[in-house]
Amino acid sequence: MTDVREKPTTSPISTRKHGDVLIVLSNNPPVNALSTAARQGLVDAIAEAEADESVKAVVIACEGQTFFAGADITEFGKPPQNPWLPQVVDIIEACSKPVVAAIHGTAFGGGLEVALGCHYRVADPSAKLGTPEVKLGLLPGAGGTQRLPRVAGVRKALEMTATGNPIGAREGFECGLIDRLVEGELLPHAVAYAEEVRDIRPLPRSSAFEEKVGNVDPAVFDDFRRDNARKFRGLDAPEKNIEAVRIATQKPYTEGVMDERRLFMELMTGTQARAQQYFFFAERKAAKIDNLPEGTVPRDIKRVGVIGAGTMGGGISMNFLSAGIPVTIVEMGQEALDRGTGVMRKNYEATASKGRMTTEQVEKAMGLLKPTLDFEALGECDLIIEAVYENMDVKKEVFGRLDKIAKPGAILASNTSYLDINEIAASISRPGDVVGMHFFSPANVMKLLEVVRGDKTSPDVLLTAMQLGKKIRKVPVVAGVCHGFIGNRMLMPRQVEATKLLLEGATPEQVDRAHVEFGMPMGPFQMADLAGVDIGWHRDPNRIENVRDALCAIDRWGQKKGAGFYDYDEKRRPTPSPVVQKIIEDFAEKQGVERRQIGDEEIVERTLYTMVNEGAKILEEGIAQRASDIDVVWVYGYGWPVYRGGPMFWADTVGPDKIVEGLKRQEERMKPEFSFSKLLLDKAEKGERFTG
Ligand code: 3HC
Repeated sequence: MTDVREKPTTSPISTRKHGDVLIVLSNNPPVNALSTAARQGLVDAIAEAEADESVKAVVIACEGQTFFAGADITEFGKPPQNPWLPQVVDIIEACSKPVVAAIHGTAFGGGLEVALGCHYRVADPSAKLGTPEVKLGLLPGAGGTQRLPRVAGVRKALEMTATGNPIGAREGFECGLIDRLVEGELLPHAVAYAEEVRDIRPLPRSSAFEEKVGNVDPAVFDDFRRDNARKFRGLDAPEKNIEAVRIATQKPYTEGVMDERRLFMELMTGTQARAQQYFFFAERKAAKIDNLPEGTVPRDIKRVGVIGAGTMGGGISMNFLSAGIPVTIVEMGQEALDRGTGVMRKNYEATASKGRMTTEQVEKAMGLLKPTLDFEALGECDLIIEAVYENMDVKKEVFGRLDKIAKPGAILASNTSYLDINEIAASISRPGDVVGMHFFSPANVMKLLEVVRGDKTSPDVLLTAMQLGKKIRKVPVVAGVCHGFIGNRMLMPRQVEATKLLLEGATPEQVDRAHVEFGMPMGPFQMADLAGVDIGWHRDPNRIENVRDALCAIDRWGQKKGAGFYDYDEKRRPTPSPVVQKIIEDFAEKQGVERRQIGDEEIVERTLYTMVNEGAKILEEGIAQRASDIDVVWVYGYGWPVYRGGPMFWADTVGPDKIVEGLKRQEERMKPEFSFSKLLLDKAEKGERFTG
């Protein structure tokens, strides 16, 4: 290609000519975010194309892993810099010469809006197109809500903007978003396409398309809201995205973009957007290991061993199989092994029946599984994860056997959710190879992975576990050793206070409702019924020391028995239980607890503020590397509403001083179990935040 006209080195945008096509190339790693410099570069490039008579068409393309992945999120919250993205897109669209977007990787957010401003879009078949702004608490704010429905249709625009889920290039082609899919090298094809269309007039400008937004049945919007009501619960951004797309069907483009701007600003200045943008970076930060010695090289993991083919072992195995990593799974009896592998196959087939996997992919995954009763078979594995009964003696016995048969350098991981990794490690001859890999149930679905770093865990073992976590599409977070690590440890004070509240006069429904209204998927008692009230029960029906013991003794083990804190019908719909109410009242009387009216504020202070207090202890003890890691654990492991950012971000929005005030109000009632975190008191006193 000839006639290179490089921009000054500060600009990520360069131009060069190929024949009569001006190639505009972005090189702004890692994701070609549309920074101020990139936006200015695009404006300059279009001006150059207009000024140069020999230029007959323009191609906009990106180097590196992706087409523009969106606005530069790091610029959010800072004073806006010209040119604004909406202006840039308008300038591209107004160009008097055809402009072709050459899309590879992820054309996301503002990136897709730039592509929509182009007159034509050519894409690599593996490209993804999306408007994930809703996941940052926003909507596409550079004309995207008005152009996308005009190009791709209202239904597609609704799905893309309000859910934030991307579509593939082929689907984009089918809905009109992509004009041509090209196999092989993208840029030469895009240039050839530009040459093909160079003389076609009038230029197709998406803002002027009216066909797909005229005569749209208004019921489309209510149907869409109804179908997605559960998914959108509590979130502001989906509704505003829907509203913006609806406006595209009601108003001319020029008015629609003004409404889009208003809705965008309403979202941008709200707490939810701040929380969701914070969370975007929190998730990425969680992958980073503090104090990792420079030059640490991860170990090579070619085969994984899993001990136990129960629900947990099976779920864990599926993660690796789906990522193409062979798994040897060991059980003690043939029946349990067959049952376990059968469940795995059934789960895969269920995914395939929903169209999210092909039959070939199911067979490929299951083909990587080696079920066996022979423990020695684990000798060929590079990482072995035990998912056996949660008991220290049992775990130590398993690790002792592994110590003898595992190959040198194999990583030995425990899926324990509470137990002391240091004690397990100290019981064998290679403590440096031991790490915790705490998956959350159902392990093939839940995104969170707590990677527990023992005192002796080697840096390369930790790095391997973290990187592998990412490879199997989990969100791995480093945790230190303590009872329950980050997530389950924070559950404990919540559970203690929730149970005490019952004795003092609250009902399970009232406590659960307060949590659901806050945005949690369920409250503590609904969660107990789902997980099993009998978890951790001593199994002696004559030993009744608390409400839980009393429920277990009469077989009220939760949903699986049709009764727990609630009664359940055959469709597992809960209703309050008079039996449980009587048990609670009897207990309160026996223990001399005075019953009174409990307000929702007290429930929040005693269950949620105590979690913040525990989170602060986890931080001050160095169990979590940073406050944002605690938030990642709670959003991905327990469904903390992302629009509240996680417990520590939420604490900052309430104010650590207010949290302390609330806890002081409740302190007497929460004794003797409760004690203040020094860090929380310190933050409150100094007026500091946890999350910066
Ligand atoms: N702005 C600034 N930085 C970004 C960014 C963005 N839009 N997108 C990603 N990054 C950064 C990440 O923080 C990360 O930085 P780090 O290495 O320092 O941690 C780095 O780029 C790599 O990101 P990932 O680790 O996420 O890389 P992946 O390869 O796993 O994923 C991706 C790439 C799919 C592009 C993913 O990063 C992503 O989804 N990014 C966000 C896309 C997005 O939300 N776009 C919309 C922005 S809002 C907008 O455009 C508003 C407009 O409508 C006006």
